[in-house]
Amino acid sequence: MTKRVSLTQYLVEQQREHGQIPAQLRLLIEVVARACKRIAISVNKGALGEVLGSAGSENVQGEVQKKLDIISNEVLIEANEWGGHLAAMASEEMDSIHVVPNRYPQGEYLLMFDPLDGSSNIDVNVSIGTIFSVLKKPNDDPNVIEPVSEADFLQPGHQQAAAGYCVYGPQTTLVLTVGHGVAMFTLDREQGSWVLTTDKVEIPADTKEFAINMSNMRHWAPPVSRYISECLAGKEGVRGKDFNMRWVASMVADVHRIMTRGGIFMYPWDKREPTKPGKLRLMYEANPMAFLIEQAGGMATNGTERIMDLPPTKLHERVSVILGSKNEVQRVTDYHKEAA
Ligand code: AHG
Ligand code: MN
Ligand code: MN
Ligand code: MN
Repeated sequence: MTKRVSLTQYLVEQQREHGQIPAQLRLLIEVVARACKRIAISVNKGALGEVLGSAGSENVQGEVQKKLDIISNEVLIEANEWGGHLAAMASEEMDSIHVVPNRYPQGEYLLMFDPLDGSSNIDVNVSIGTIFSVLKKPNDDPNVIEPVSEADFLQPGHQQAAAGYCVYGPQTTLVLTVGHGVAMFTLDREQGSWVLTTDKVEIPADTKEFAINMSNMRHWAPPVSRYISECLAGKEGVRGKDFNMRWVASMVADVHRIMTRGGIFMYPWDKREPTKPGKLRLMYEANPMAFLIEQAGGMATNGTERIMDLPPTKLHERVSVILGSKNEVQRVTDYHKEAA
């Protein structure tokens, strides 16, 4: 049995050996990881815990909120607002930012999250998750206490200090980067501790597995239709190999599969809502996942540009997402550029 390394030990070793994780960021990650454990407990209760079904309210996205959307959002806010490691939070489930109340010390980080990703899978017992992204407050001079505003969050993805997700599936797994590779931790439920189970995630550059919601086929732009029809043509077609398809409809589950065995994930623009660039949200879905994918050797674009270079203009803005094994993402991106 190899020596068990806990999340805390991993972070301290990263900090001690590489000076990579300032103490406030280490604390932030530990607090978020602890909040994910609490969310996992609620998720695992299911029907026994009064956590299933709709909350009857609507969020800023125009989605009907599930009870677990709200529960997980509250868990993350309550866990993070008093520790002195961050200045404000933003969430898929909140219209505007949540600034740390005056009674608590303010830290130098900003935290964004999708508290419960894959809400349509909650009531059918399919893997769901939490996604989070960490930025530094732009003006982090401790002597200058300026009120934090939404504009402070509007930083491109390459400014992220850390990103991660927790997938609540057959195992509860935390996947994390602080900009120096990706590590995976599995929750030891008996001890209630996160144990390092993969210390360097690497995504294969090639794959035979694509993930897209095929029911939207008639709405896609030509480069996406071209790529998918080539995959469907299999070894008799130009690709010369057969492909497999997966679509969980929880981004965390589809991305976790790619982090584990490669693949390409696509939620592209489609003509159902032509003015919207895509369904997924840039700040707390696409950017954190793009950071993780790139840190694991993959690629993430919106069809033409690197996701992490896109300049955000609104907290809840949406984006087209193509990410995963870099040779496949490159191909789809080339098809978009040829069609432009
Ligand atoms: P959320 O549950 O946080 O709103 O996100 C759901 C997203 C993402 O997790 C998933 O990839 C996508 O919606 C699935 O969309 P479809 O249901 O249209 O396939
Ligand atoms: Mn989501
Ligand atoms: Mn969500
Ligand atoms: Mn949602």
